[in-house]
Amino acid sequence: MNIGINIGYLVAAALFIFGLKGLSHPRTAVRGNLLGATGMLLAVVLTLLDRQIISFEWILVGLVIGAGFGVILAVKVQMTQMPQLVALFNGFGGGASALVAGAALIEAALLTTAPSTQMTVSTAASGLIGAVTFWGSLIAFGKLQGIISSKPAKIPAHQLLNGILLLASLGLGALIVLDPSATWVYWILVAVASALGVLMVMPIGGADMPVVISLLNSFSGLAAAATGFVLLNNVLIISGSLVGASGLILTNLMCKAMNRSLGNVLFGGVGGTIAAADDVYAGKIKSTSPDEVAMLLEGARRVVIVPGYGMAVAQAQYAVRDLTNLLESRGTEVEFGIHPVAGRMPGHMNVLLAEANIPYDKLKTMEEINPTFEQTDVVIVLGANDTVNPAAREADSGPLAGMPILDVDKARTVVVIKRSLSPGFAGVPNPLFAADNTLMLFGDGKQMVTEIIAALKEA
Ligand code: TAP
Repeated sequence: MNIGINIGYLVAAALFIFGLKGLSHPRTAVRGNLLGATGMLLAVVLTLLDRQIISFEWILVGLVIGAGFGVILAVKVQMTQMPQLVALFNGFGGGASALVAGAALIEAALLTTAPSTQMTVSTAASGLIGAVTFWGSLIAFGKLQGIISSKPAKIPAHQLLNGILLLASLGLGALIVLDPSATWVYWILVAVASALGVLMVMPIGGADMPVVISLLNSFSGLAAAATGFVLLNNVLIISGSLVGASGLILTNLMCKAMNRSLGNVLFGGVGGTIAAADDVYAGKIKSTSPDEVAMLLEGARRVVIVPGYGMAVAQAQYAVRDLTNLLESRGTEVEFGIHPVAGRMPGHMNVLLAEANIPYDKLKTMEEINPTFEQTDVVIVLGANDTVNPAAREADSGPLAGMPILDVDKARTVVVIKRSLSPGFAGVPNPLFAADNTLMLFGDGKQMVTEIIAALKEA
């Protein structure tokens, strides 16, 4: 391979790494995205120059169709639909890897060149991982989009079935390595791995999909890296490995923040006993009104807003921005406490608050904000539940056991805005709602914040 092309690939790989670095902070994320995209453009152009392309017409057709879909999706998809869009992207990445590896195997068979063991092993790996990624991602997309039920599907002996399918895939992979000219074996492998992808994701509940999507993202990278070995393309190997590693790191971070193991997410069953809601709440709930909350806020010097999934559902981020501006104009200090798994996808709250132009330096991580709650006059918990549940500190079993939380209960007064006493994603009653220093403001997040603003302006 031309040395110039390899140097160009190295530059593209460096751009990917700087891009990833940029993506690790909201302030530099846009630049990071741009760097990564530039790296990818460079890699694509160099590959087109390097490979002996027979006809550019079909590539152009693919480019125009792909770019057209990309633009439509980027403009149309809502922020709350991002997880399913990412699922689709991962799926297509995995599917493309499996198809390209299959095409390379057919080419070798047609040319009657004996492929190397490296190529056949990589082809089998790409077919297996790519097909699992494609179908697993489509199911994840369907669950999040509401096309198929988001409830965990009950499949009898599903772990045994998955084990058999995995073993069958590995056996078919071995057959490909032994006799690469029998290309039909590859497509049977793809079919068996597709069934594995579907059965792997069907029994997982919709709320766990973000973790599954992150894992499938990692898989799509591994499939691409395997295809890189098939085609002997260095930049595909590097970019695939980067996606594989970063997806795995993200999966691990999400599991840690939920205090669950990956096995627990994939194979279900959190177990443990959950307190009855009546025992936790009976006679202890104090509800409040927007007027009363406005009065509290008038006298507060420091306010912390803790958003959760409910803020995303209510699309309350703009109202929250207006409340923040109003309080600050009156001399109140306002900060935000962001739990690492608040919402339903990594960075969910950061993205929504950034969309409403709330400055990044106001968004504090759990480690930064927790020591400040004791000096906070009012905490507004907006549609957050599990991430502020003090039961997580004491529980030694159950879905929340050991999950680190935002210590909002240590503030002078806590105002919780949500529509009812229903539990959050983990299904555990929250003793915070019954605490002496908590007031419940029942209603839709956006409507309640808007009414608080109106009451503050009237006062
Ligand atoms: P949750 O514990 O899920 O609670 C959200 C609360 O929002 C609900 O109790 C709901 O109560 C309220 N709500 C819903 N719609 C609302 C509306 N329109 N207005 C006001 N409130 C509304 O949220 P959280 O604290 O953000 O915790 C996230 C959970 O998701 C954690 O258990 C986490 O482990 C899990 N999870 C997160 C991720 C990532 S990466 N973020 C991935 C997988 C799982 P009402 O129905 O009473 O209003």
